[in-house]
Amino acid sequence: MKDTQIKKLIAAEVKRQKSVINLIASENIVSKDVLEALGSELTNKYAEGYPGKRYYGGNSVVDKIESLAQERALKAFGISADEWHVNVQPLSGSPANVAVYLGLVPKEGKIMGMSLDHGGHLTHGHKVSASGKFWTQIPFGVDPKTEVIDYTALKEKAMTEKPNIIVAGFTAYPRTVDFKKFREIADACGAILMVDMSHFAGLVAGKAYAMSPFDYADIVTTTVHKTLRGPRSAIIFARKDARDLGKAIDKAVFPGLQGGPHLNQIAAVAVALKEASTPAFRKYAAQVKKNAHVLAEELKNLGWHIISGGTDSHLVLVDTWMNGQGVSGKEASERLEKIGIIVNKNTIPNETRSPMDPSGIRLGTAAETTRGKKEKDMQKIAGMIHKALSKK
Ligand SMILES: Cc1ncc(COP(=O)(O)O)c(C=O)c1O
Repeated sequence: MKDTQIKKLIAAEVKRQKSVINLIASENIVSKDVLEALGSELTNKYAEGYPGKRYYGGNSVVDKIESLAQERALKAFGISADEWHVNVQPLSGSPANVAVYLGLVPKEGKIMGMSLDHGGHLTHGHKVSASGKFWTQIPFGVDPKTEVIDYTALKEKAMTEKPNIIVAGFTAYPRTVDFKKFREIADACGAILMVDMSHFAGLVAGKAYAMSPFDYADIVTTTVHKTLRGPRSAIIFARKDARDLGKAIDKAVFPGLQGGPHLNQIAAVAVALKEASTPAFRKYAAQVKKNAHVLAEELKNLGWHIISGGTDSHLVLVDTWMNGQGVSGKEASERLEKIGIIVNKNTIPNETRSPMDPSGIRLGTAAETTRGKKEKDMQKIAGMIHKALSKK
């Protein structure tokens, strides 16, 4: 690279990444092949439209790439083109979710989503996101005692509010989401069921998540860059039936929300999906989950309040504040960064502090498992976290 300034900064970031223990639940470490596809000449190509229906010439190669990414997306999740439509063009998770609402929820309609402090994502209808500005969020959350989703309260609210769409999925919820219960509720109130599996997609592909959203949902969205270990990107799946949801989704992505697809990114998605379809990835997904379980158990045994009492995924939510007996999430993340452990501060259910200095931290095991860490390493890391947070 001739640009020495950027070259140096990239080298510095690579060095930083290699020198820390990365417990950011939404990050991972992609393969050299994914990086190669991302850095390829495919970035030069404009191809507004979809394979076989483009607004530009010269698509003989990129059509093949996009079609291959679609095929591999179906294969990675064990589903077929007879039942599922796939759109691999969303630039990232937030535009993918907004595209679903744009395509399927009428103006000023209702999105039932998990509230942010209970583990939902901003794009599940929070008022600072487009999803909450153009549509109305009907929030649901967890039971204050068990800290798991309160399905009874969810159903009651859904029956009263009659949302247009219900979003099952999370950004900071450690437990299995019961898609079957969500399906029953969506059917009872007449809503579309969307699962945002951004966080746990790698576990679904690796058959390490308790349920597959594809058995129950109408729409499944996912980012590719978290547990799925691909480039920053997103995919939307739509069930094929008389409603033709896929057609509305395609129109919403392009021309509704985006212009030309990022074909270098789509090629990198295809590479990652091939990797996620291997037996090695299955082993990886199982290890991610085992590691998170050990991390949660160790921290619990050391006296920390683990939200919901444990985890069924790659993610652990720790209440570090513990009603003033511990340290705030901000203080915790700063103390951990000083000893080379990178986490993010996070709100916890029924948060009493501010989002900028909340009561907890979120931990995830996807990146460190890619580096080969196992249960023993997690025990060690839990000890390091405990020591850093207990210091007076
Ligand atoms: C559940 C969920 N959906 C959507 C997104 C948005 O993804 P992106 O940051 O790629 O826009 C995230 C990101 O953290 C997420 O956790």
